[in-house]
Amino acid sequence: MNQTFAQAGAGSDADDNAIQLHDVHKSYHQGRVRVQALAGINLRVQSGEFTAIMGASGSGKSTLLHLLALLDKPDRGDIWVLGRNIERLTEREATLYRRRGVGVVFQQFNLIPTLTAMENILLPARLAGSCDAAIQTWAAEIADALHLGSRLGYRPDALSGGEQQRTAIARALIMRPTLLLADEPTGNLDSASTNQFWKLLQEMLARVRTTVLVVTHELSTALQARRVVVLRDGRIAGDFCVTPEDDMATLAARYQELAG
Ligand SMILES: Nc1ncnc2c1ncn2[C@@H]1O[C@H](COP(=O)(O)OP(=O)(O)OP(=O)(O)O)[C@@H](O)[C@H]1O
Ligand SMILES: [Mg+2]
Repeated sequence: MNQTFAQAGAGSDADDNAIQLHDVHKSYHQGRVRVQALAGINLRVQSGEFTAIMGASGSGKSTLLHLLALLDKPDRGDIWVLGRNIERLTEREATLYRRRGVGVVFQQFNLIPTLTAMENILLPARLAGSCDAAIQTWAAEIADALHLGSRLGYRPDALSGGEQQRTAIARALIMRPTLLLADEPTGNLDSASTNQFWKLLQEMLARVRTTVLVVTHELSTALQARRVVVLRDGRIAGDFCVTPEDDMATLAARYQELAG
């Protein structure tokens, strides 16, 4: 995140809370019908925590990520990231937050088809006007760690699903964001690619202190997280910690109990 934004949070009680949501509501109009996507979300996520967001289709998971990424606004409630209320950022701060504070991986990856993998990875740095030698070295390191080395000169249509996804992750990490938000990032991958992806991401996260929120339907993904937050009808039905002793069966039982 840009220095101004990050430093502004220092010293507040948000030091350990990368994210705080207080009574966040969001509704959409579908014709004449009003759909309550989020109905009073209260959530704290500690800095550096890796959290999985789970819940049935339509429970509000993507809406929550969109609000955190400043891609949409809540109807009411407060969202704090590193001690700053992101709704109250100035226009310039909001732009910096979107470019540097938060890295987003969408389910469909949203890579630019006319750019090579490396150009896609470097795009946020170019947009931020900071595509210097240090960033290029960092891009090469991330690409290497994500096993993309030999594919960097190719455009997305010449990349496999797994390679496109790792490119999207690399792009999301290039600015060393405070927050990494990923919406079902392994939704299109087979289980071998999914497992490889999580292994690589965990290795990356050991190097970049980033708070990660991953929306997923897959218990195998939730098993990688430290904590699982379950949404139900726009509310938090509950959350639980994941320990190394947990397996898919114990997670499935806890999840079912909360998701209903
Ligand atoms: N832009 C929008 N316009 C209208 N309704 C929307 C919009 N975005 C979301 N909704 C509605 O809000 C509710 C929550 O949607 P959201 O996309 O957050 O669910 P989700 O948990 O991500 O579901 P899925 O697992 O299917 O991706 C749904 O009923 C959805 O139809
Ligand atoms: Mg969704």
